[in-house]
Amino acid sequence: MGGEETEATLMKTIIEPFRIKVVEPIRMTTPKERERILRDADFNLFRIRAEDVLIDLLTDSGTGAMSSLQWSGIMRGDESYAGAKSWYVLEERIRDLTGFRHVLPTHQGRASERILFELVGGPDKIVPNNSHFDTTRANIEHSGAKAVDLLIEEGKHATTRHPFKGNMDVGALEKLIQEVGAKRIPLVMVTVTNNSGGGQPVSLENLRAVRKACDRHALPLFLDACRFAENAYFIKIREKGQQDREVRSIVREMFDLCDGATISAKKDGLVNIGGLLLLRDPDLVRRADELLILTEGFLTYGGLAGRDLEAMAQGFEEVVHEDYLHYRIRSTEYLGEKLVAAGVQIVEPPGGHAIYIDAAHFCSHIPAEQFPGQALVCGMYRAAGIRGCEIGSVMFGGKGRKPAMELVRLAIPRRVYTQSHIDYAVEAIIELFGRRGELRPMKIVEEPPSLRHFTARFAEL
Ligand code: F0G
Repeated sequence: MGGEETEATLMKTIIEPFRIKVVEPIRMTTPKERERILRDADFNLFRIRAEDVLIDLLTDSGTGAMSSLQWSGIMRGDESYAGAKSWYVLEERIRDLTGFRHVLPTHQGRASERILFELVGGPDKIVPNNSHFDTTRANIEHSGAKAVDLLIEEGKHATTRHPFKGNMDVGALEKLIQEVGAKRIPLVMVTVTNNSGGGQPVSLENLRAVRKACDRHALPLFLDACRFAENAYFIKIREKGQQDREVRSIVREMFDLCDGATISAKKDGLVNIGGLLLLRDPDLVRRADELLILTEGFLTYGGLAGRDLEAMAQGFEEVVHEDYLHYRIRSTEYLGEKLVAAGVQIVEPPGGHAIYIDAAHFCSHIPAEQFPGQALVCGMYRAAGIRGCEIGSVMFGGKGRKPAMELVRLAIPRRVYTQSHIDYAVEAIIELFGRRGELRPMKIVEEPPSLRHFTARFAEL
């Protein structure tokens, strides 16, 4: 309920708001084994088998644990080709949560993006966002359009404090519209929370201001709403005047402000696979329906099984429970606080789904050309079997490009790890920080023409 305190918010100990019914063993490895595994994988953690990882913080996408009600939904799944009961359960849930009447199911977020930008993208078009996620940018560019990031200045610096570092720079948006003309902008997008910029939230005030700018030029506003519930919870705890509202009502206002949304349900849908495309414009709906049938599946399953639709319907309900969100945001913050207290520099304040370590600071002896982030992810794996993800010169560098920051993302799967798993990670990373001078610079020995971070081979210098 609104502003009432519960045990979860009154006590300091983070209490996971669930008990565990099914367990999945994780395999312990020795330092010697990990050394061999790392070398066999040519120092690329995407090449390692998941069973050789102790704590897997590669991504929060599709890696969450489902609840007993979701698993029972899996049994209830109606696998009819058209008009499955499970579809209507999901459609009703999403209509209720977002107010959108037109709900299209897809197999994951990027499928929604592909359909949307095939319809509104194209050469000469420009799509602004606070920060485009890689797949969004890639789908926009694939259509021939240009993707532009318009993040506020505070969002571009690791240690600058601001409660809503994911906000869009509305002045820069106005300027862009003036410069290129509204005709070339098919829609304005805002990513909540801003994954590419440290998992930072966007305020309601900012969303309202972006909406006003869109209205002035008759432009549609779309959300990349993968982490809409985490964003809404940040609004509740950080934004002036929002403390007494229910998260559900904040979520509804966020969606009411926009004309459409792409959603990967693998994040706040609390499922392992699934996505949504939400639209209002009937003409766009008609054309999107055609593409959906062409490439995903019929309108009532969109590339998913009936059981997936049931699990999604339940996931979108559970994710707005405030006990869950308190635990979720607090446990990510806890990891960040412990690292900061030990002197490890991170993107501050902690984001919703992940902590981003500043690898340039951690490995200050390694220049960007020798991949400090890659050295750090290899060091964490070697030391403790932890898998993180390099987001720096390996992922975004090469071909003359230089990323603004050298980061390592520790993304937290939802409802998977307990506080002691996180304590283990904290202990290991702090221990590694104490002997960070031992981390070795790296070089790339083999790389594909694009998206090199997935398959490149490395060597230590
Ligand atoms: N938008 C954002 C903000 C995302 O973080 C992602 C995925 C997508 C769109 C695409 O969704 O994977 O279901 O096709 N992010 C994952 C990550 C992959 O690790 O951050 P998808």
